[in-house]
Amino acid sequence: MTALRLLAPCAVLLVAMAALPRERGAAPVPQDASASRPATAGSATTRPSEPVVVVTGNEKGFIRPCGCSKPALGGIHRRAHAIAELRATGRKVDVVSCGNLVNETGRQQEIKMETFLLALGEMGYAAFVPGEGEFALGLPILRDLRMMAPFPWVAANVTAPDLGLVPSVVLEGSGVVVVGLLPPLPKSTGVATTPAGDALVAQLKAHPASRMLFIYNGTEADARLLADLIPASRRATCDVLVTGHADAPGVLDRGPDAHRVLVCGSKGRNLALWTPSTGKYEGLRLEESRPGTETVDALLERYRLTVKEEALATKVGRLPTAPKYVGDAKCAECHDDIHPKLKETPHQRAFATLVATHDETDPECVRCHVTGWGMESGWVDEARTPTLKNVNCEACHGPGSDHAETLAKTPAGKVGESTCLKCHDPDNSPRFQFKTYWPKIEHK
Ligand code: HEC
Ligand code: HEC
Ligand code: HEC
Ligand code: HEC
Repeated sequence: MTALRLLAPCAVLLVAMAALPRERGAAPVPQDASASRPATAGSATTRPSEPVVVVTGNEKGFIRPCGCSKPALGGIHRRAHAIAELRATGRKVDVVSCGNLVNETGRQQEIKMETFLLALGEMGYAAFVPGEGEFALGLPILRDLRMMAPFPWVAANVTAPDLGLVPSVVLEGSGVVVVGLLPPLPKSTGVATTPAGDALVAQLKAHPASRMLFIYNGTEADARLLADLIPASRRATCDVLVTGHADAPGVLDRGPDAHRVLVCGSKGRNLALWTPSTGKYEGLRLEESRPGTETVDALLERYRLTVKEEALATKVGRLPTAPKYVGDAKCAECHDDIHPKLKETPHQRAFATLVATHDETDPECVRCHVTGWGMESGWVDEARTPTLKNVNCEACHGPGSDHAETLAKTPAGKVGESTCLKCHDPDNSPRFQFKTYWPKIEHK
């Protein structure tokens, strides 16, 4: 594959990193009041000097918050700040990633992955367990990415030549032995795995007296089975951490006799703070009020620029549509009663919103902020398709050339709530309810 763009050496970044942490003093780390599950185990109070392991992962592509709804939590820039702040308290801090930074493939995901890994390097990660999302990118790309991420890649049951995988790593601050485990990977990845349970048992034997953390990049159900393989005698010192499906980090409550399973959270909105000496495991929400850091802000800006330079928004696959998109000016010719109402709706500022944050060429943003995204006669860019800017008539009623010419029925037929949900999904519009939103834009 072609050289990854962001590979250019970032002297600026390294210098900026040396300046971290900023003078924010030894602020206490806030606890996550909103974690969906209580962090039960380890109620002993933690002395500030106890080493802490910061756990992240399962971002699923959420490298930064989109800002579609408030509060816009998370992002790698805020994460960098939180980690720097934690280090400034004088505690020993190890940072580990459970992988699944992306969960799709394609050029944008590669650029994103690169940005992620450079940021992880800047934040001083001690271990990265590549997940199913990473292996899906394919070995050639992973090998390129590997060169940008000089920290240990940990996976005990995976054979992938040239990735420099190690089965385990000893964290410097806490002395914890981290082991990476994966579920069987699809054949298409070209990567062979051995059973995770066998690897777990072998690693337990190899480190008979260590505090251990098994990071499992699979389902919660399988993680429970793995946890059950740990003998009772080692339950106090060995934990299983799973990427899981929960949004916020937490501890699976499996009763007093079962080995607990830690869940990493997802979408980059939280960190998990694990104190190995006490077993305490808690979430830290990356609030909107938290600033970024110069270094990682710069990486995100480069990510934006690369997406723009490569004009990814103009390269998406386009589906043919039978009627064509004609733009709202055409509709206005006959629906002059409705058209002025459209112009007053918030939908008419959708594109300007992206321009304001320089995201107007990012396919991951544009698709919901314009009309006819991914369609042959639909949105391309502002110069070529000016009347498809914003969320216009045809975003809801479908491409209207036939209707405009012959008064054939509009292709979307009766539109309603399900039309809105294509864009007003739980991630981007968590407060969406048809009965409260529709009256704000009604035009009948
Ligand atoms: C799945 C569709 C979807 C995607 C993808 C999407 N947006 Fe949005 N965006 C929306 C919707 C819907 C709203 C309105 C949310 C609400 O008010 O309930 C919105 C609102 C916004 C707002 C707030 C506007 C305001 O002033 O209130 C910003 C900023 C924004 N989006 C930026 C982005 C950026 C940047 C991206 C890409 C990283 C993005 N959006 C991707 C659907 C999307
Ligand atoms: C040549 C005139 C004309 C143009 C141009 C036109 N319409 Fe219509 N449209 C009509 C008439 C007439 C009706 C039927 C009476 C009514 O409901 O207003 C209608 C009905 C509709 C309806 C309700 C019935 C149905 O088929 O779903 C929708 C929705 C609609 N138009 C959307 C649009 C959109 C979107 C555009 C632009 C792509 C558009 N119209 C362009 C004349 C036009
Ligand atoms: C093609 C994607 C898309 C579709 C379909 C869509 N919206 Fe939106 N909607 C957006 C975006 C993007 C915004 C944010 C605009 C901005 O401020 O930048 C938004 C904003 C809104 C807002 C303003 C929210 C606020 O309080 O600021 C309302 C209300 C709304 N939409 C209602 C609806 C309803 C009702 C439907 C279905 C009938 C619908 N939308 C369909 C993308 C869409
Ligand atoms: C955000 C989505 C959205 C946009 C944008 C939008 N509409 Fe609609 N439109 C709807 C919905 C939803 C209904 C049905 C409302 C209902 O059934 O109560 C509707 C109803 C209509 C109707 C009446 C159809 C009927 O069943 O009587 C017409 C005509 C119409 N729209 C035309 C237009 C035109 C013309 C534009 C652009 C100027 C436009 N719409 C923009 C969502 C939208």
